Amino acid sequence: GGQHRIAVIAGDGIGQEVVPEGLRALEMAAKRFDIDLAFTEFDWGCGHYERHGRMMPEDGIDRLASFDAIFLGAVGWPTVPDHVSLWGLLIPIRRRFEQYVNLRPVRLFEGVPCPLAGKKPGDIDFLIVRENVEGEYSEIGGRLYAGTEREMAVQESIFTRFGVDRILRYAFELARSRPKRHLTSATKSNGIIHTMPFWDERVKAMATAYPDVRLDQYHIDILTAHFVRCPERFDVVVGSNLFGDILSDLGPAVTGTIGIAPSANLNPERRWPSMFEPVHGSAPDIAGQGIANPIGQIWSGAMLLDHLGYPEAGAAIVAAIERILKSGRVLTRDMGGSASTEEQGKAIAAEIG
Ligand code: NAD
Ligand code: IPM
Ligand code: MN
Repeated sequence: GGQHRIAVIAGDGIGQEVVPEGLRALEMAAKRFDIDLAFTEFDWGCGHYERHGRMMPEDGIDRLASFDAIFLGAVGWPTVPDHVSLWGLLIPIRRRFEQYVNLRPVRLFEGVPCPLAGKKPGDIDFLIVRENVEGEYSEIGGRLYAGTEREMAVQESIFTRFGVDRILRYAFELARSRPKRHLTSATKSNGIIHTMPFWDERVKAMATAYPDVRLDQYHIDILTAHFVRCPERFDVVVGSNLFGDILSDLGPAVTGTIGIAPSANLNPERRWPSMFEPVHGSAPDIAGQGIANPIGQIWSGAMLLDHLGYPEAGAAIVAAIERILKSGRVLTRDMGGSASTEEQGKAIAAEIG
């Protein structure tokens, strides 16, 4: 109950095209389920950088802190180096708001052409739990001897017991809540000899508290092969920041397109706002053409409603997506159709209503 204040950052490229469709779906679900959502839009991103020399104002994070959730499109554009744009907006939000869980569902829908032979809807239906605030993404390290033959770059990874344990606990609990009760952990402890064996040790330690959860541990290299050869094997998959990132593009690609993949950057303790955004980026190669798939954004809106305590409204959005895909009526180009972003967004919104 009560009003929920949502900060909206459409950001760059196709973020500007898919966010309006995400909002259209959210507004329709809010109307149908009588939910009071108040949206406030922020024009932050690479355009803001070009105008002001920053991706967001200096007090940007503080201004977001009082919202109930953040609905984000995409960040990054060829005019600004990626490490500058992402570390100036997306990554600081994840970190400052302790959104240490990045939850990314992967699902094969009826009606979406699957690149794998012989897979049916229902065969592929799993959740990636990505550690979202530490690991391989760190500011520790540096560049030395620029321009010389001895030039070098050093990048440290940070894996804390606190950080690893909390993401593993979340993943074990999630696995326990699902019918298959199966958790897969991704590491690379044969090659990365400090951080990855540490992660494996913490998995083993945590597993003793979850004897009812079936556990598999793989090296990331063979795990990518299993994602392609037998994606039906997976239920909940947990990995570090970088491995989770890579798996969460591969998983959706195996279900036909990354354009449908949603994500929830969660602060499970609810001390700070969580953020909902598609897995994909700003797609400069198709931006401005009105052909981007809006489903990743719309489904992220469903996850936002779940998080705010409206699981029925979230489920209604997912059901609408399911029915539109199944009908094959308005598929965007990445799914083999010719519908525009707006046509598909409007069809899904109508279906929600
Ligand atoms: P991308 O996800 O933007 O695009 C990869 C490919 O997938 C492109 O061919 C694109 O056209 C296609 N694609 C992506 N989303 C689609 C959609 N909704 N419908 C149809 N096709 C879609 O990844 P990239 O090219 O590596 O990155 C582009 C920019 O976005 C970079 O600046 C990158 O750093 C940034 N990025 C941001 C986020 C984010 O904001 N969370 C995520 C990934 C990449
Ligand atoms: C994602 C993106 C980001 C990440 C980039 C743009 C920094 O790829 O959200 O998956 O790696 O987290
Ligand atoms: Mn990514």
